[in-house]
Amino acid sequence: MVAFTLNGEARTLDVEAEMPLLWAIRDIVGLTGTKFGCGMAQCGACTVHIDGTPTRSCQTLVGDVEGANITTIEGISGKVAETVQAVWAELDVPQCGYCQSGQIMSATALLTETPKPTDENINSAMSGNLCRCATYHRIRAAIHEAAHRLEA
Ligand code: FES
Ligand code: FES
Repeated sequence: MVAFTLNGEARTLDVEAEMPLLWAIRDIVGLTGTKFGCGMAQCGACTVHIDGTPTRSCQTLVGDVEGANITTIEGISGKVAETVQAVWAELDVPQCGYCQSGQIMSATALLTETPKPTDENINSAMSGNLCRCATYHRIRAAIHEAAHRLEA
C-alpha cells in the first residue's frame, strides 16, 4: 500500500513499492495525460510535480512518494499554469503533442520559481524535455509570453 496526494485528492494504492510512479498514475489511477517516452529519465514526457518539483515519473518508484503531493497535467491549476496553457494554445506550440504535457509541467515549474526567465534559465529548466517535432522555438516564445502576461 502506498498513500499520497494526487491532484489534491488523497489516494491509497494497493501496488508494489517498486512500481514506477508513471505506471501507477496511468495504469492504476487512469490519468493518461502523463506520457511514456523513453522510460529512462531522458525525454521528460513523463514529468509530474512532486511537492512542486518537476520530476520524471518513469524513474520514480511509487514507494518513494509515500506522503508526497503529486500533481499531473490534469491537476495543475492557478494563475501560472492557466497562463502557460492559454499561451501554449494561442501560439500553437504543440505539433504532434506527445511531449507537451511534460513541457507544460516543466515550464509551469520554471515560471513559478523564476517569473522572468532568461533564455539561459529556459535552456537549463527545459533541457530535460525533448521534442521530436522540434517545437523548441515556440516553447521558448511561449514561456517568454507567459512571463510577460504574468508580470502585467
Ligand atoms: S518517459 Fe520518463 S523521461 Fe522519458
Ligand atoms: S510536439 Fe511532437 S514530440 Fe513534441
